Amino acid sequence: MGITVLVLTGLRLAWRIFHRPPPSPAGMPARERRAAAAAHGVLYGLLVGLPLTGWAVVSLSPFNLPTVLYGLVPWPHLPLAPLLSDPAAAEGRLKVVHAYGAWFLTALLVLHVVAALRHHLILRDDVLRRMLPARRPSPSSEVLGSTR
Ligand code: HEM
Repeated sequence: MGITVLVLTGLRLAWRIFHRPPPSPAGMPARERRAAAAAHGVLYGLLVGLPLTGWAVVSLSPFNLPTVLYGLVPWPHLPLAPLLSDPAAAEGRLKVVHAYGAWFLTALLVLHVVAALRHHLILRDDVLRRMLPARRPSPSSEVLGSTR
C-alpha cells in the first residue's frame, strides 16, 4: 500500500506542476498563508519520504523477504546494501525515521483536517468546498498567490 501511495503521490505531483491551486481566501493573514504553505510542503515531503524509507527498510532487511504488491506484483528492492558500510545500522535508523515520520504524518493530517474544518465552520470561507473535485474558487476569493 505504501508503494501505491508513492505512485499516487508521483501522479499528484505531476498534476500539481501543471495546475495552479486556487488563491488563498481574501484577508487570510500572511502568517497563516506561510503556515499553510509549510504544512503542504511537509505533507508532500512525507508522502514521498515515508514510502522511500519503508522501501529502503525492506531492501536492507537481513531476512531478504520478497516484496509483492497485493500478493500479485513482485516489487524490486533497492540495491542499497553494497553502498553502505553498516547496512544493519542503517536499517535500524531508517526504521526509526519511518516510524516517527508515519506518526508525524498522522498528526499533520489531523491538523490539516482541523484547519479545513475551521475554515468551513468558523471562518465560513470556501477553502474546504474547493478541495472537492471540479470546484472553482468563489468570486469572494482574492487573487493573492498560492498557499498550496
Ligand atoms: C505512506 C506510506 C507509508 C506509511 C504511512 C507507513 C506507515 C508505517 C507505520 C505506522 C509503521 C509502524 C511504525 C511503528 O513501529 O510504530 C510502519 C512500519 C513499517 N513499514 Fe511502513 N509505511 C509506509 C510505506 C511503507 C513502504 C512503501 C514500505 C516497504 C515497501 C514499508 C515498510 C515498512 C516496514 C518493513 C515496517 C516495519 C518496520 C519495523 O520493523 O519496525 N512502509 N510503516
